[in-house]
Amino acid sequence: MTKQVLLTGGAGYIGSHIYVALIAAGYDVTIYDNFDNASKDVPDRLEQITGQKPDVIEADILDRTSLRACFSSRKFDAVIHLAARKSVAESVARPLDYFETNIAGIIILLQEMERAGLKDIVFSSSATVYGHPEQKSLPETAEVSHTNPYGFTKLTSEQILSQAQAADAGLNVGILRYFNPAGAHPSGLIGDDPNSLPNNLLPYLAEVALGNAPHLNVFGTDYDTPDGTGLRDYIHVDDLARGHVLSRATLLDKQCSHLVNLGTGRAVSVMEMLKAYSAACGRNLRHKNQPRRAGDVTIYCADPSLAKRILGFETTKDVMDMCNSSWNWVQKNKSRNEMKGD
Ligand code: UD1
Repeated sequence: MTKQVLLTGGAGYIGSHIYVALIAAGYDVTIYDNFDNASKDVPDRLEQITGQKPDVIEADILDRTSLRACFSSRKFDAVIHLAARKSVAESVARPLDYFETNIAGIIILLQEMERAGLKDIVFSSSATVYGHPEQKSLPETAEVSHTNPYGFTKLTSEQILSQAQAADAGLNVGILRYFNPAGAHPSGLIGDDPNSLPNNLLPYLAEVALGNAPHLNVFGTDYDTPDGTGLRDYIHVDDLARGHVLSRATLLDKQCSHLVNLGTGRAVSVMEMLKAYSAACGRNLRHKNQPRRAGDVTIYCADPSLAKRILGFETTKDVMDMCNSSWNWVQKNKSRNEMKGD
């Protein structure tokens, strides 16, 4: 029997890649998305990749009536929950909007799941829950804290899941702490599609490579790292997507709840990324050294061993795969960016 998954936020950057991975693994998937931060042509593109028309419900995670109708019209085995706001800077400016979507959203979802008798949920969390880490490699047991409203919503959601589980032993929960997602599907049909000039490193490098930004601002060259720039654990979005399929399978086959990092365990500097993107696009991209960016830390890097042990998860793609696939994606979608006036 085919297993049916509700994928909230399934039209977004990470969600669309998870959709493709779930279909490849033989799941039936329904996308639930309000298209606030996703393009309306994503379902058509997913159809081109998978050869089947996606089942899409356009609705908000806060819309209890739509959620209830969705659960009563289909028979799901699990929910993979991504629908949330995700910009750190925006969360500082509009914290209440973040609390509403990210925290009220997961509460309404859990209540409606309970009503529908649904017991399995995979949740999209973030390495941001490690706050300002001291360690070079972060195991899941590392201290957690929040440094901005976005991080607060992720940490609070984790705690809500854990307390809901304490009250209902039948609830199976997979919490996935993402490190830095990067890259795009090899087809070039889906990828990171920010609405305006991005803040994150890879999409910004893409803008420089396209000529939409004159140079990369390297935020901080005096960190205690080999080349002085910040270190991050970048994970290819296709690997990240596969992690969700494994998480869902682990809940299904073993009823084994888990909280794991999804990262590579390899720390890459800003300068290394600049070099890799230059190689991908075939020319040396310019950069300017700038002071440190407020709120940044020296290093964020996963200890990926627990995900390997529990889920059998290992990454397969490297930094060149991330840059090559990102470059392929943005080149194939130049006109789309021009239309947005980026
Ligand atoms: C941030 C979020 C994280 C989110 C991730 C990807 C925090 C604490 N973390 O991570 O939750 O998952 O984005 O969306 O906010 N850099 C430059 N120039 C640029 C852009 C970035 O030098 O134009 C540097 C940064 O200083 C940092 C590295 O590149 O050292 C990565 O930055 P970024 O891609 O913004 O991700 P994070 O800040 O690590």
